[in-house]
Amino acid sequence: MSLPFINFVYVISAALFIFGLKMLSSPATARKGNLLSSLGMLIAIIITLMNAGLDYKWIFLGILIGSGIGAFVAIRVEMTSMPEMVALFNGFGGISSLLLAWTEYHQLAWAEHPHRELSVFISIVTFLSAFIGGVTFSGSMVAFGKLSGKITQKAVVFKGQHIMNAGILGTALVAATIFCITPASALGYVLFALILVVALGFGITSTIPIGGADMPVVISLLNSYSGIAACAAGFVISNNILIVAGALVGASGIILTNIMCKAMNRSLANVLFSGFGSTTAVQAGDGGPQGEVRPASAEDVYYILEAADSVAFVPGYGLAVAQAQHAVKELGDLLEANDTEVSYAIHPVAGRMPGHMNVLLAEANVPYDQLVEMDDINPRMDSVDVCVVIGANDVVNPAALDDESSPIYGMPIIETHRAKTVIVLKRSMNPGFAGIQNALFFAENARMYFGDAKASIQALVAEFKND
Ligand code: TAP
Repeated sequence: MSLPFINFVYVISAALFIFGLKMLSSPATARKGNLLSSLGMLIAIIITLMNAGLDYKWIFLGILIGSGIGAFVAIRVEMTSMPEMVALFNGFGGISSLLLAWTEYHQLAWAEHPHRELSVFISIVTFLSAFIGGVTFSGSMVAFGKLSGKITQKAVVFKGQHIMNAGILGTALVAATIFCITPASALGYVLFALILVVALGFGITSTIPIGGADMPVVISLLNSYSGIAACAAGFVISNNILIVAGALVGASGIILTNIMCKAMNRSLANVLFSGFGSTTAVQAGDGGPQGEVRPASAEDVYYILEAADSVAFVPGYGLAVAQAQHAVKELGDLLEANDTEVSYAIHPVAGRMPGHMNVLLAEANVPYDQLVEMDDINPRMDSVDVCVVIGANDVVNPAALDDESSPIYGMPIIETHRAKTVIVLKRSMNPGFAGIQNALFFAENARMYFGDAKASIQALVAEFKND
């Protein structure tokens, strides 16, 4: 097969990746975007295999085993465990790049008739692919362990940690420099092995100081690393589509990381190095806002909703925990049947992963046109009759706007406190992710409707149906 033809097909694949990525930016087109990008990858794999003239039996075995495990895990995974699964997949991507770089290095340095020269450039990209791939693998395994609760979720911090990490990184850079000067030597191989060990170690030591709740940001960053490692691996084996795909993953991962940090009003450095989550969360009453809360029963809330012209649901992490999305949709339908204008206000970092709320509400078939972004609902919040906050806490905490001492000061929020009435669904007065109390709960216009979100909403549905 001629090279221009192969590259032509790769351009088609790359175009499919890019259009697919673009379509992922809206819930309405995301599924098609996913399919389109997958098609691009399928075409790229087929054309690469057709060109390579390989021993297919191992490849098919690999595809069968990989697809089997992937399908099994994807079918079984709970929506709340999705970040863990992404962490695992990132890790596998990283280890693939490491192994690919190792195999190619071994071939070029030690085969009797290597198929090309082991130049300085190839040595550099081999180091990058192996090192970043190794960091991605072990870092992702730690992220997986933290999210699944298999290891402590707390940020593990100790004195001299940053210096230790800088030392590890420095060791890798020195080893890499000597390796790139003399790769095809016994010393080169020893240094390469050292780089692999250091990479795996650095992935662990740089991820343990980050608290479990910050893991989604870390996973997005590791996703970016896996792309960069794949991009470098593409250079190692001179495969154009691997370079393009890796670069796209690397860039989109870093953009997503940036969006998440901005939405939390934290810098990436703060997420990576501050040890957020190393101490016990400030509990309700520990110096935070205090006052009287006004509890409400299902019947009270029913009367408020029944009389409302407009209702905005504001979902948060608790919606995911309670799996209340179907019940909310049912309540939304009943309200609409009652001539109430219904919308769902989505905060970009509500929940624990990007698009968490969108995915849950899409699963319950909430129409896309009822989803309203934070920046669109805030300007008209004063005219909303009732905001129903479902298991959200930090993303509606007014301290982000007016309390400079608050850890979330500056984070954009959905300004539910400006609605005529706010009903907050949660189980207790416990704080959310940031570990701080919320003045909204004590506001004049707020009513607390305590209980598990799903059970509470089902009780409201029953009230409407009994009416
Ligand atoms: P949180 O502030 O974490 O609050 C969730 C609330 O849900 C808790 O106060 C909890 O109160 C309640 N809850 C838990 N289970 C419940 C259940 N079964 N029924 C009813 N309520 C329940 O959530 P949020 O407002 O969505 O904010 C997200 C936070 O995560 C932000 O601070 C954000 O910065 C952070 N974060 C987000 C991301 C992404 S990408 N989404 C990534 C990293 C960090 P009770 O225990 O009293 O019920």
